[in-house]
Amino acid sequence: MTDAGLLARHLAAIAIAQEAGDLARRHFLDRDAMAITFKGPQDWLTQADRQVEDLVTGRVRAAFPGDACVGEETGGTEAGSVWVIDPIDGTSNFARAVPHFCISIGYMRDRKIETGVIYNPITGEMFTGRRGHGAFCNGRAMKVSRTDDFMRATIELGWSTRRSIADYTQLMTRVVGAGASFRRAGSGALGMAYVADGRNDGYAELHINVWDVLAGIVMVTEAGGWTNDFLTGDGFAKGNAILAGAPGIRAVLTETTGIAA
Ligand code: IPD
Ligand code: CA
Repeated sequence: MTDAGLLARHLAAIAIAQEAGDLARRHFLDRDAMAITFKGPQDWLTQADRQVEDLVTGRVRAAFPGDACVGEETGGTEAGSVWVIDPIDGTSNFARAVPHFCISIGYMRDRKIETGVIYNPITGEMFTGRRGHGAFCNGRAMKVSRTDDFMRATIELGWSTRRSIADYTQLMTRVVGAGASFRRAGSGALGMAYVADGRNDGYAELHINVWDVLAGIVMVTEAGGWTNDFLTGDGFAKGNAILAGAPGIRAVLTETTGIAA
């Protein structure tokens, strides 16, 4: 594919995220009308998730009919030219009027993540990353944090019921025991964007799905950070552990989390 084709997809991802974000924001502000269900324990779902995903996949299919879509709500399978969509990441926040959620759209071509767009429609922050072209927040270049001192670091530790409580508390104990502070803000995609922007020094989660992190991975690397090889093995289809961070804490973060990177 030509660079023009990749650029067209990057710009489309931003425009679609903006439009999808406007729709999500309208639902967020109309909380009384929000219908909430659960896909499983602590796994929230609102009618907005499906509506937003339908909007995104509809726009992608209209503009790029040969491309595939994989979304959190409607599924799909990997292809050479594939869009990866989380319509609302941070649904538990979204459903409870906490303004920390986002639309996440990634685009991957021949197993290279070319574009990542993560948009929080409440703060109006549009995080973007394009392979070889840098990472930006509303046009401002992002850089990962310069910290090399774990005693000053803050690591976001993502959590879901897909891994045991024992595994999560052990991860937390090890990271905090090595001197870092930790948080869990409830959106893996925004957690990764925050690593790119130096707001988190690192992000770790023992299992996460591709739609939660694909966009964030290219953002972190373009902002000067590193990640593990999330796509290795069945990572795309079944999810994997994710670890991402600033260069100065790579060794201590891989050692404390036990996630190879
Ligand atoms: C979840 C969030 C959460 C992460 C989980 C995800 P959802 O996605 O990103 O922060 O820890 O692994 O499943 O349910 O808000 O779309
Ligand atoms: Ca998600």
